[in-house]
Amino acid sequence: MGDLETQISLFELSARQLEPNESKRKETQNPIIEYTNQFLNNVNDIPVFNSINYEIENHFSSEFNENSEPIDSILKHLKEHVHYPGINAASGGHLGYIPGGGIFAAALGDYLAAITNDYAGVDFASPGGVALENSLIEWMGSIVGYPTNCGGNLASGGSIANLIAVTTARESCKIKTIAIPKTVIYLSKQAHHCIEKAIRIAGLKDCILRYINLNEKCQIISEELDNQIEKDKADGLLPFMVIASAGTTDVGAIDPLSEIGIICKKHNLWYHIDAAYGGFFLLTDVGRKKLSGIELSDSIVLDPHKGLFLPYGLGAVLIKNKKKMHEAHYYNASYLQDFSHSKDVQSPAELSPELSKPFRGLRLWLPLKLHGTKPFIACLEEKLLLTKYFVQEIKKVDGFEIYLEPELSVATYRYLPKNGNVNSFNEALVKATHQDGRVFISSTSIEGVFILRLAILSFRTHKDTIDLAIQVLKDGVKKVLLANQHLAVDQC
Ligand SMILES: Cc1ncc(COP(=O)(O)O)c(C=O)c1O
Repeated sequence: MGDLETQISLFELSARQLEPNESKRKETQNPIIEYTNQFLNNVNDIPVFNSINYEIENHFSSEFNENSEPIDSILKHLKEHVHYPGINAASGGHLGYIPGGGIFAAALGDYLAAITNDYAGVDFASPGGVALENSLIEWMGSIVGYPTNCGGNLASGGSIANLIAVTTARESCKIKTIAIPKTVIYLSKQAHHCIEKAIRIAGLKDCILRYINLNEKCQIISEELDNQIEKDKADGLLPFMVIASAGTTDVGAIDPLSEIGIICKKHNLWYHIDAAYGGFFLLTDVGRKKLSGIELSDSIVLDPHKGLFLPYGLGAVLIKNKKKMHEAHYYNASYLQDFSHSKDVQSPAELSPELSKPFRGLRLWLPLKLHGTKPFIACLEEKLLLTKYFVQEIKKVDGFEIYLEPELSVATYRYLPKNGNVNSFNEALVKATHQDGRVFISSTSIEGVFILRLAILSFRTHKDTIDLAIQVLKDGVKKVLLANQHLAVDQC
């Protein structure tokens, strides 16, 4: 063999380690399957919140060994320094922020997708993968009441999905750079912060952002929105889009979707709804009533990694007029000239900023096929009822008050101590629950009021979890009262 061939065969020998044979594959597959089985068997027994008292980065060197490490020690390392510290987001006791999911079938979908590595961004490369993803878009479109030929994309999460919607709106309304300082976007202080981020990234940061006043339920007051648009028009400004929320992260508020839809139509404005959290409650009777009017929008975001209990990594955007989405995102490149495009099929890569992307559709399609839609709907119905149950039970506990009656599955409440500062007490209370760690609760502030939240959306949250959360809150109150008593004695 010549020099070149010897060199190639040497490298090949080493490179081929990346392609283990079946028995080698099993050497790593089996311990990982065993590890994940143990994790799932004990998922609700692992503390939901673990604070750590060491520098975690010391356990992650940026230097990788040339040679391999045994899978058992790798898993041990992951368990100690990745899976244990922080929030156990897979637990049903995760009741903070907006909990994600992690259904098993979705993990199998990801596994399948990663192994086959289908190039589902482009119709030419994976006609079946694209058709599968497009069928999911059509299904979600039917849930929100969009036409069957609506556009959409399976993005990595709600933030990117909102960015795609804002970008489409910008292109559709032909916002010119010179007009940006006079262009007005209407939204609520309750809008998720990723909306402002999207506006900035989409080059619209110098637009005028009008935060419309909210009523006592934290909803946009539609009359004020209408009046503001009229005033802005009269002042020579350029009203452009309204962004409403179908379930805000803070308190779960739903803006008056129908009324805003009518206003947008009257003024010919782009109407975007962020339904990342609340959208899939459309699958329930209560949700359908509460979210009626959602179909009037031009674009919607809804997150399967929230409302359909998938692991993190899937947020969907729907655009009523697919052509607009295409105009905002299409591309052309000489090196892609061999792609033959089917006229009727739009590829994900033409409708989003991504070209190569994971085949995300499989993590949703497989669970829907394996389980059918029934358990998903039951799980959403259960979450709505659990929220009612929490409200009913926490009202019975002396000292607690409900801040806002929940619309969907976010409950807001606080403890009113007989003495002392209410905000400080509740801040200490949330900290006490974190130290406890049996469930994870988060907080927010509305106009200076410190509020505790209970966001019920994990598919693993059931009635016993809510009973436990109430117990943790009661124990937390005792602990804070005791600490305050000691403080008072110390100060005497
Ligand atoms: C209402 C709402 N919109 C958008 C987002 C952002 O979604 P993601 O975290 O998937 O990017 C969230 C996240 O919680 C949310 O609750």
